[in-house]
Amino acid sequence: MASKKQFYLTTPIYYPSDNLHIGHAYTTVAADALARFKRHQGYDVMFLTGSDEHGQKIQRVALEQGVTPQKYVDRIVAGFKHLWKTLDISYDDFIRTTEERHLRSVQRIFQRLYENGDIYKSEYEGWYCVPCETFWTERQITGEHVCPDCGRPVELVKEESYFFRMSRYAERWLRYIEANPDFIQPVSRRNEMISFVKQGLEDLCVTRTTFDWGIKVPFDPDHVIYVWIDALANYITALGFTSADETKFRHHWPADVHLVGKEIVRFHTIIWPIMLMALDLPLPKKVFGHGWLILDSGKMSKSKGNVVDPLVLVDKYGVDAIRYFLLREIPFGSDGYYSEEALIKRINSDLANDLGNLIYRTLTMLNKYYDGVVPAPGLEAEVDRDLRQVARTAVLDAEAAMDRLEISVALEAIWELVKRANKYIDETAPWALARNKEADRLATVMYNLAETGRILAVLLVPYMTSTPRLIWEQLGLSADPAAQGWAAAKKWGGLKPGAKTHRGAPLFPRIDLDKEELTMDTEKTTVKEKVSKTPKVEKKAVNQIDIHEFGRIELKIAEVLLAERVPKSKKLLRLEVALGQERRQLVAGIGKSYEPEQLIGKKIVVVTNLKPAKLMGVESNGMLLAASFPGQGEEEAISLLTVDRPIDSGARVR
Ligand code: ME8
Ligand code: MG
Repeated sequence: MASKKQFYLTTPIYYPSDNLHIGHAYTTVAADALARFKRHQGYDVMFLTGSDEHGQKIQRVALEQGVTPQKYVDRIVAGFKHLWKTLDISYDDFIRTTEERHLRSVQRIFQRLYENGDIYKSEYEGWYCVPCETFWTERQITGEHVCPDCGRPVELVKEESYFFRMSRYAERWLRYIEANPDFIQPVSRRNEMISFVKQGLEDLCVTRTTFDWGIKVPFDPDHVIYVWIDALANYITALGFTSADETKFRHHWPADVHLVGKEIVRFHTIIWPIMLMALDLPLPKKVFGHGWLILDSGKMSKSKGNVVDPLVLVDKYGVDAIRYFLLREIPFGSDGYYSEEALIKRINSDLANDLGNLIYRTLTMLNKYYDGVVPAPGLEAEVDRDLRQVARTAVLDAEAAMDRLEISVALEAIWELVKRANKYIDETAPWALARNKEADRLATVMYNLAETGRILAVLLVPYMTSTPRLIWEQLGLSADPAAQGWAAAKKWGGLKPGAKTHRGAPLFPRIDLDKEELTMDTEKTTVKEKVSKTPKVEKKAVNQIDIHEFGRIELKIAEVLLAERVPKSKKLLRLEVALGQERRQLVAGIGKSYEPEQLIGKKIVVVTNLKPAKLMGVESNGMLLAASFPGQGEEEAISLLTVDRPIDSGARVR
């Protein structure tokens, strides 16, 4: 049997909590993107996640809620599974630390460590942070009696305990880290861990007797095993380590990547490797500590709690938008900020404007010029070669970034292609090629745009779960972009001419910030009336108005979001425009001078306080400004008024 290359990837196992927020989804969404990327590359992927259900903290919370710890965790874990399903997390196994397979394996691991002389009985006297489930020495808490990690009060613990001889392994650990510079990523975290161990590694207290919500020490059942020893073991207990059938363990271990938040890198790079050394097992190839999504919740006073609930957000904005935001917003190794405003901005700019518009414009023009059938390319030009080069670079850059686990960088690389393709439309102006009957060029341009869509669908497979398929189907392709393999994005020309496309609705509707119930400080364009400072008009001639009269006309910069022909009209176009956060429909008689596709993204000037009017049955809420000049033949041509600097829509024109 030809066996595929293995890739074993894990997330941490999550603590049951009633307050899951969007940040919690980060590790798992990131791991899912990586798992999908590796599958796309052709690896045999094992992607593990789960829940970390023991410990003093959970026992306390259950007690407060008046339920047994088991009842409490069962409820929350059902919620985790529902959330992961909602976010399309493609895990291969979910391990719960309360499962029999885990309990038995942890007990056998503990027994083995004991028999090897790495665990001994003594008395623990020191400090404990219950929320972090972490032991601290007097020296580490520096007299403050608060947890150095979270700042909450620590509790004095004095009890008979078993200890794990970590000190014995300090030298070996340091040698391993020196010899394997890629083991801890990013490097900044590696340096931190090295200096932590160099300060001296003490033996770790690994059992407790003052509560019982944990795995019992097999040879001394008054003791329960320290929750971190219990939890870290999940990465091998899920593979059946020490069970009657160790096939999976032999197949998948060692792990390729443990993906964890930066606050738990210490447990994963010191305690866990030393446990493995003591068990005589190989170490995972990499522990990657990612940054945090900082919840900027101070800005959202209205429905706090609600605005960061990932289920609510998915319901509101869709799975792909949430996944994209999480993956794009947090750069490699550092933190990113969450606010609903930041989320909406990403959706509007990257998804609605860049990606959605590209696909929508492409399919609209294919419909118009080729009845929706992809043409065979004709005449080549320099601009085509440039587009192809950008596509190739995007694929290679994204792949290299993913191999370094720089997910946001990979998405940036892919967006280079999205942006280049939008610019390609403006540069090649397919509407002009059609008008001037340059059929050979038009065919090439339209083929290249459709082919770019195909490549993007393949490239987006790891990050989004429905969008790649939607693009694929709209391009008239069968099967699934995920089935093509990542390499299908490297070859230009995969799309066969003759494919029948099906334009759908825009992939990502723009979100109107105004309609969202946010209590953010939206910057309103302030209109400063400078009336008093204006010199008086001396003589009032017939055609002159004074500044007050002019002031009654409200002119604003609008961005064209959507444009299409009004059915049965040669002249009229229906436009949807953004005026800052407001959105409006206009009807304009510019259809002989402009193709609808040409208008999308343009910043124009609109009279916004004109009474609504109906033109061929379509309501117009405003009027755009244009100048007319003599065109070819009898026709008069029209030029829209636009701005010559990048200005936000909604700005007042005065
Ligand atoms: O630590 N931004 O579980 P956990 C980014 N049970 N990531 C975040 C985040 C945020 N705002 N909030 C949480 C545990 N996370 C232990 C692990 S493993 C043997 C035991 C991430 O539920 C966090 O960094 O507190 C971690 O990777 C994951 O959510 C689970 O955290
Ligand atoms: Mg935590």
